[in-house]
Amino acid sequence: MAISYLRVSVTDRCNFRCRYCMPEGKKEFIPHPEILRYEEIAEIVWVFSQFGVKSIRLTGGEPLVRKGLESLIYQLKEIDGIREVSLTTNGFFLGEKAEVLKEVGLNRVNVSLDTLNPEKFSYITKADEGALYRVLKGIEKAKETGLNPVKLNTVLIKGFNDNEIEEFVRFSADFGIEVRFIELMPVGGQFFSRENFIPISYVKEFLEEKFGRLEPVKTVKMGPAKSFRVGDTGAVVGFIPSVSQHFCSECNRVRLTSNGKLRLCLMSDREIDLKSVLRSPAYSRELLRKTIAGALLLKRNVDGIEALESLGCSRKMFTIGG
Ligand code: 5AD
Ligand code: SF4
Repeated sequence: MAISYLRVSVTDRCNFRCRYCMPEGKKEFIPHPEILRYEEIAEIVWVFSQFGVKSIRLTGGEPLVRKGLESLIYQLKEIDGIREVSLTTNGFFLGEKAEVLKEVGLNRVNVSLDTLNPEKFSYITKADEGALYRVLKGIEKAKETGLNPVKLNTVLIKGFNDNEIEEFVRFSADFGIEVRFIELMPVGGQFFSRENFIPISYVKEFLEEKFGRLEPVKTVKMGPAKSFRVGDTGAVVGFIPSVSQHFCSECNRVRLTSNGKLRLCLMSDREIDLKSVLRSPAYSRELLRKTIAGALLLKRNVDGIEALESLGCSRKMFTIGG
């Protein structure tokens, strides 16, 4: 599969502390000098564009906590071949940022939202009680501003939000926003375990029983999610079976961490250090191009998650960005 999509984590910092993402008592973050500067990210993206990458997703931590993200988006949109720049955010700063993000050329946003209940929201994110309201306002604002399609990312956790599936369907119908259900991955999780895992197959059966047929929606397929209309509710939902179905053969993406490591697979610790290439005295674009070419070849040759899995994943989610 050709690599057409690059996820770029711009920071490991976040204003939330979601229990399945950040370890308890987390205080140490990557020191600023080790974080790639925007010019460095743009340089890497330029090289990737030469290899056919057309779409960039900015992630975190929370990308909107990094200062001047607008200027990065602007720089990335200027690169020939980059057709789309999107953002995955917790939505907290979206209300105040949506307009400027749209102005500099951001195409669309995905908002991570695991519950529609304010107390539960505050429990899972450890943010204060007003946070959910702000996020909902942010989602509305993003839609109004035209950062469309706005989508919701909802990680399913048994005993936490499995009783809200119906509410998410109503939310999708009422706001015209696709809700994508994501299986909880054993990455960085010390709070949640296998007992909290809900397979996508359960959600599908539940929805079919409750609302009738799931009608596939024809979309340009960019990632592992498949979208469906839910009966005649007007809702559109997507499913990301990150655990129950490996989609390695369809994987079109690589990931860049905020400290300049290229990850070939979410679940594997195999990383290629691009920062040290960029910062070496002998730096040239040709050197970076060769390093990235080698990495992409490696990805093509390693046969999927089964082979990579033996390497394991020791990074926590907030350092990769999903
Ligand atoms: N399993 C599944 N999704 C996760 N995310 C963070 N940690 C996990 C996990 N352990 C999600 C966030 C966000 C995306 C970037 O990754 O909720 O939507
Ligand atoms: Fe922050 Fe997202 Fe991790 Fe929650 S899941 S702590 S919002 S990076």
